[in-house]
Amino acid sequence: MEATRCPAVFLLLPLFFLILLIFFTPFGRNNLSHLDFPLSLSSSNINDNITTQVQIQQPPDEFLLPNSEDNRTMIDHKATTISIKKITTSLDIVEQGLAEARASIREAIRLRNYTSWKTGNFVPKGSLYRNPYAFHQSHIEMMKRFKVWIYEEGEEPLVHGGPLNDIYSIEGQFIDEMDTSNKSPFKARHPDEAHVFYLPFSVVRMVQYVYKPIMSKNDYNRDRLHRLVEDYVGVVAHKYPYWNRSNGADHFFLSCHDWAPGISVANPQLFKNFTRLLCNANTSEGFQLKRDVSIPGLYLIPGHLGPPNLGQSPINRTILAFFAGGAHGDIRKLLLDHWKDKDNEVQVHEYLPKGRNYTKLMGLSKFCLCPSGFEVGSPRIVESIHAGCVPVIISYNYSLPFNDVLNWNKFSLEIPVAKIPEIKIILQSVSKSKYLKLHMNVLRVRRHFIVNRPAKPFDMMHMILHSLWLRRLNFGLSTSE
Ligand SMILES: *[C@@H]1O[C@H](CO)[C@@H](O)[C@H](O)[C@H]1NC(C)=O
Ligand SMILES: *[C@@H]1O[C@H](CO)[C@@H](O)[C@H](O)[C@H]1NC(C)=O
Ligand SMILES: *[C@@H]1O[C@H](CO)[C@@H](O)[C@H](O)[C@H]1NC(C)=O
Ligand SMILES: *[C@@H]1O[C@H](CO)[C@@H](O)[C@H](O)[C@H]1NC(C)=O
Ligand SMILES: *[C@@H]1O[C@H](CO)[C@@H](O)[C@H](O)[C@H]1NC(C)=O
Ligand SMILES: *[C@@H]1O[C@H](CO)[C@@H](O)[C@H](O)[C@H]1NC(C)=O
Ligand SMILES: *[C@@H]1O[C@H](CO)[C@@H](O)[C@H](O)[C@H]1NC(C)=O
Ligand SMILES: *[C@@H]1O[C@H](CO)[C@@H](O)[C@H](O)[C@H]1NC(C)=O
Ligand SMILES: *[C@@H]1O[C@H](CO)[C@@H](O)[C@H](O)[C@H]1NC(C)=O
Repeated sequence: MEATRCPAVFLLLPLFFLILLIFFTPFGRNNLSHLDFPLSLSSSNINDNITTQVQIQQPPDEFLLPNSEDNRTMIDHKATTISIKKITTSLDIVEQGLAEARASIREAIRLRNYTSWKTGNFVPKGSLYRNPYAFHQSHIEMMKRFKVWIYEEGEEPLVHGGPLNDIYSIEGQFIDEMDTSNKSPFKARHPDEAHVFYLPFSVVRMVQYVYKPIMSKNDYNRDRLHRLVEDYVGVVAHKYPYWNRSNGADHFFLSCHDWAPGISVANPQLFKNFTRLLCNANTSEGFQLKRDVSIPGLYLIPGHLGPPNLGQSPINRTILAFFAGGAHGDIRKLLLDHWKDKDNEVQVHEYLPKGRNYTKLMGLSKFCLCPSGFEVGSPRIVESIHAGCVPVIISYNYSLPFNDVLNWNKFSLEIPVAKIPEIKIILQSVSKSKYLKLHMNVLRVRRHFIVNRPAKPFDMMHMILHSLWLRRLNFGLSTSE
């Protein structure tokens, strides 16, 4: 086994390419404190020259041969040497592509122009975006280049499949879109062309198949879950060179389950660079803004990719604020204590009275209250955006989805937990013109929260991939002797 170890030392160069920073600055800082992005990039860190020595512009044909993978796992010394050279070359090509993408994003920012604009295509515009030019160009570059290798190891039900419905549906939808359906244009044909590597296990399925039925308190012990994931990482790290060369920095998993963040906490050394795409983006639970990605929760019923659109025009929205849901967690308890079934304008229910329709009520409301429950995120945020209802975020330590691209304060409000008693006063004092702007922006931002299968540009799947792409743009991998 010794011979499979790479003789070259692979170095991870945290080259701060300023891409994220660029997304953050042009339209001023966000007022919502939890959206602040703690980047402290100094200009001395900028390095544009990483790939200037690379000659090859196009991947050689052999690059795409499905069989070339066999060469890399061979044990004899000669084959290993050859394969290392090959990996070096393909990594240079990958990095070259990223350098070109960074350059064209910078160019779009400098010119403030939509250079690759084509009629008929959607173009992000206005203050809804932190920098619409950067986002537009970055999305184009992503469509053109981004490749995700999906590890083939493992079997259903724990790997290569997940829940397609209910509150954790995004987990299964993402696996299905990227992996099982075999239709995604982002799916790499060979790991050597990949920018990132996906470990397509489902935490929801692991909990479902390995833990249930839960008979005693001991059954909540997370050891088994942590072992399953560590085993999976062990297998791919042993079999292929990719995990070790970056310490997992270009590897990711996605989960909507509450237990998912704990996986990497259990083995901080192994997972220190592993990118996590989480619904439970709780910054006080180890969610790292620079490494991890906040994804929206989504409640789906079988056969549908979202609720029906029952959003009314503003004039017909007769309810000031609406919430219906269980008393999960402290924030909701506070909300229900203060407002449950007490006010006609601020309609807060624990359970919806019989005969009343949740989606319809959201469509009749100006503001929809989205307090954290057992997790920081809530599918309500997406539901209210779908219903054209301005989301009111009530949470601690929640990093909102896509906030490196979107200006959340242009289409949502934040009310601190301590001000729950003042909800009515706060919302009543929002001027009509401010409300109409917020509402208009909710309608405009909706396309980014819609699930399409197969995915379409700028929809939720693409936004999730773009968050990942952005993080990959922010570091470089390099080989050295
Ligand atoms: C990666 O590192 C681990 C731990 O050091 C080792 O067991 C494994 O064999 C390495 N993988 C490869 C492909 O060399
Ligand atoms: C890039 O390389 C060129 C030529 O070697 C050099 O003149 C230039 O200063 C370098 N730029 C940066 C940002 O390092
Ligand atoms: C190695 O890969 C090349 C193509 O890249 C292929 O022609 C050759 O047969 C492979 N060798 C082995 C031993 O699999
Ligand atoms: C923006 O790009 C278009 C198309 O490439 C070009 O025709 C136009 O002159 C550019 N505008 C500016 C201000 O650079
Ligand atoms: C990997 O993690 C270490 C420790 O958290 C950090 O210093 C380093 O910058 C990370 N590398 C990348 C590429 O994220
Ligand atoms: C979490 O929120 C609380 C209350 O706002 C704050 O005091 C704390 O600093 C936050 N923690 C993190 C890691 O952001
Ligand atoms: C408001 O609702 C009424 C009754 O449902 C409908 O007839 C009317 O067209 C709606 N107004 C607007 C502006 O949508
Ligand atoms: C609400 O009404 C819509 C349209 O009539 C319907 O499609 C939907 O299933 C209803 N939702 C519930 C929870 O009853
Ligand atoms: C976020 O994490 C902190 C620290 O673990 C925890 O106290 C808090 O309850 C979490 N928030 C939610 C909504 O789960």
